[in-house]
Amino acid sequence: MLSPLSSENILITLSLALFAKASIVVKRADHSSSSVSPTSSSISASSDTVTSNSTELEASAALHLGTFETFGWANPTFPSYHNSCNVTNQRMINGALIDAVQVSSYARDRLLANGTSDEIYQRWFGDGPIFTVAGVIENTIQGVKDDLLFRCDDPQGGCAANPTTWSGYHVLNTTGETNFCDLFYSAKKPLTHICFEGTIIDVEPTLYAGIDLFHRYFHLDQMSSEGYIGEFTEELPDILDLAQNNGTFAVRNVDNYLYYLADVYAEAVVPGGCLGDISAD
Ligand SMILES: *[C@@H]1O[C@H](CO)[C@@H](O)[C@H](O)[C@H]1NC(C)=O
Ligand SMILES: *[C@@H]1O[C@H](CO)[C@@H](O)[C@H](O)[C@H]1NC(C)=O
Ligand SMILES: *[C@@H]1O[C@H](CO)[C@@H](O)[C@H](O)[C@H]1NC(C)=O
Ligand SMILES: *[C@@H]1O[C@H](CO)[C@@H](O)[C@H](O)[C@H]1NC(C)=O
Ligand SMILES: *[C@@H]1O[C@H](CO)[C@@H](O)[C@H](O)[C@H]1NC(C)=O
Repeated sequence: MLSPLSSENILITLSLALFAKASIVVKRADHSSSSVSPTSSSISASSDTVTSNSTELEASAALHLGTFETFGWANPTFPSYHNSCNVTNQRMINGALIDAVQVSSYARDRLLANGTSDEIYQRWFGDGPIFTVAGVIENTIQGVKDDLLFRCDDPQGGCAANPTTWSGYHVLNTTGETNFCDLFYSAKKPLTHICFEGTIIDVEPTLYAGIDLFHRYFHLDQMSSEGYIGEFTEELPDILDLAQNNGTFAVRNVDNYLYYLADVYAEAVVPGGCLGDISAD
């Protein structure tokens, strides 16, 4: 039915990209048995899909030897792709996946190094338990994703109906399917743009594709642990209030994670970061 890229294939892709420090190469899964996507036959011949056999073997060997680095994560896992995501779509989404692996590594390192007395931790999680935050971040990157499917064929018509506002959606009546709209590719920014687009508070963390993926993941049962992580509150004053007065729920609220990830990352890569003025809200 489907011809998903396996997690290992994406990992090889990712390692190739890291090795080469070049554009991301997408390895196509065999789709000879495919019956789903009308577009799949047109992409198998694309020159974009060519991977160097020796480089691939090298990356694969490094993977098996455990000698290649994915921002300190030992075994990141990835969703499968539905055939409706063509090579171009997959290259762009893979870029966001790599950004998610990277941005979360800063959060992990800061959590472990600075604990709960950290100013940024307290801002977004208050006195909420660090075990929840550490576990949620690790599970999001390394947890089992065998129920997750990324698709690009707009099965509910949400992209077509909302072309300037919807970047994607959780496909109704599925536990693990997320559809990406074309707006995702044009509107979401790579992490390298952090602090260029405006303050985090002005532009909101989901402007960044790698952080927005966290938000999309949390709509899926396997990543939210059946709703343990949820959108309890989404307005900044409420998010900050949750951290200060209701830490138990701050560590379960999607947006508290998104702001935390962006805040930690920005401060790590740009002197002083670019959070913006939280007292204004
Ligand atoms: C890639 O390498 C494998 C193992 O050495 C070999 O069997 C295969 O024929 C090679 N494929 C291409 C396209 O060169
Ligand atoms: C891939 O899909 C996008 C729409 O998401 C489309 O614009 C593009 O032309 C497609 N590319 C190929 C090679 O089919
Ligand atoms: C720990 O916090 C300090 C600021 O208090 C910061 O400079 C440092 O980078 C943090 N450590 C990590 C690993 O993020
Ligand atoms: C989802 O399931 C409900 C209840 O079975 C149904 O009414 C609805 O049409 C379904 N929605 C979609 C988009 O399939
Ligand atoms: C904490 O937030 C949750 C979710 O909004 C709410 O149900 C709960 O009542 C709040 N608890 C307190 C003590 O405010």
